[in-house]
Amino acid sequence: MANPAFGSVFMPEMSITWFDGSSWSAPEMVPSDSIQLHPGAHVLHYASTCFEGLKAFRHADGSVKVFRIDRNVARMAQSGRLLALPDLDEAFVTGMIMDIVRQYKDEVPTAPSSMYIRPTLIGTEPIIGKAAAPSDSACFYVLLSPVGDYFAGGDRALRILVEDEGMRCAPHNGMIKSGGNYASSLLPTMRAKEKYNVDQVLFCPGGDVQETGAANFLLIDGDEVITRDLDESFLHGVTRDSILQIARDQGLKVTERKLSVEELLERIAKPGCEAALSGTAAVLAPVGTMIYKGEEHKVGNGEVGETTVKLRKALNDIQWGNAEDIHGWLTEV
Ligand SMILES: Cc1ncc(COP(=O)(O)O)c(C=O)c1O
Repeated sequence: MANPAFGSVFMPEMSITWFDGSSWSAPEMVPSDSIQLHPGAHVLHYASTCFEGLKAFRHADGSVKVFRIDRNVARMAQSGRLLALPDLDEAFVTGMIMDIVRQYKDEVPTAPSSMYIRPTLIGTEPIIGKAAAPSDSACFYVLLSPVGDYFAGGDRALRILVEDEGMRCAPHNGMIKSGGNYASSLLPTMRAKEKYNVDQVLFCPGGDVQETGAANFLLIDGDEVITRDLDESFLHGVTRDSILQIARDQGLKVTERKLSVEELLERIAKPGCEAALSGTAAVLAPVGTMIYKGEEHKVGNGEVGETTVKLRKALNDIQWGNAEDIHGWLTEV
């Protein structure tokens, strides 16, 4: 296929390890369509699952680098702990990720394409009686999926619905990268797409601007970048952190604090104001229109923002090896 859907193509093998209640098995390479689970497995009933998403990039000199693996591995371990899944040693996980990427190093595409890495942890104990107790056994595997340029169809300012009644997920679960959170935001997002022809929903529970179903939210007002300060209610994006660092490097002011829907709408009405969504897949995607209570509000002039594009390029330049990796974000495979 010339341009397959994001995440629909997998490398033939994955790296896998099993926890039997006392220890993790030695990691193995197995065909990537080959896990066997009991239909009563804990994960299939009580959603004891978490995952990660990070990327490996091929540089012009042929080398392959993984972006901020330490951050993703730490977040994975934290998600697992918060879901009461068996502990995963961070060095062990890092080793498994590096091993599988090394195995398929030749398949890592050149920029702007990349190799998306999907580590996944699931509770495997065959027991439907543990609705309120953790799985004693688990499985951890690392899948690889080569992905193309997110902006292949051209850069376009997104339309988003500002939703201040519902929420993306249970507030205490927001910082866990767990399947259940995506399931809980799916229907509101589908309904919004149908009703308002939007790309995403910006969840703002109780009027507090938070994040969309799969990306963090940043407001860029002149030389200030405003985004919500970290707490347990939303995912602590690695891209968010990277973009904020780059913004500081470029002399922009970074403010991490609560932002109300009221203030958001006031600010975006000004010319020159920009908004963007950050995440591993799209890096930084511009937002041009917000819909709130059935009314359309342009963000600045409604077009792709200049600062958004500049920040995205600066991050891509580091990822693709076109700028110095001054923060030590890349790990050579
Ligand atoms: C809910 C949610 N928020 C934010 C992000 C952005 O996180 P990251 O930048 O680490 O990819 C993601 C993941 O892609 C996500 O699923």
